[in-house]
Amino acid sequence: MYSEKVMEHFRNPRNVGEIPDADGVGTVGNPVCGDVMAIYIKVKDNHINDIKFKTFGCGAAIATSSMITELAKGKSLDEALKITRNDVADKLDGLPSIKMHCSNLAADALHEAVKDYRKRQEKHQNG
Ligand code: FES
Repeated sequence: MYSEKVMEHFRNPRNVGEIPDADGVGTVGNPVCGDVMAIYIKVKDNHINDIKFKTFGCGAAIATSSMITELAKGKSLDEALKITRNDVADKLDGLPSIKMHCSNLAADALHEAVKDYRKRQEKHQNG
């Protein structure tokens, strides 16, 4: 029921961990199942220079987190905000429909991390 790509990212997830001095952090919980994901980003010249994730969730959530870190790395912040859950699912050659809610987490956490970064920048500029 899972594609080979989902299984591969689940077994061998990329960019796992935490960035202690992250420039932005996005943490989201899934209302459907209660699983939680955090995404950490480092930003340089308005681009995502480094990205890591921590996911307390199912295999699909781990695979989508892993895939989204690959999709977002090197992208501009605006491009990162445009990555949708469908992009992630497509890149993984699809997810079973009962597991589509799991891909919400990855896209939402990424978007939250970018927003968190921008909020911190504003605060910085306003003193
Ligand atoms: Fe919770 Fe997949 S079952 S994220």
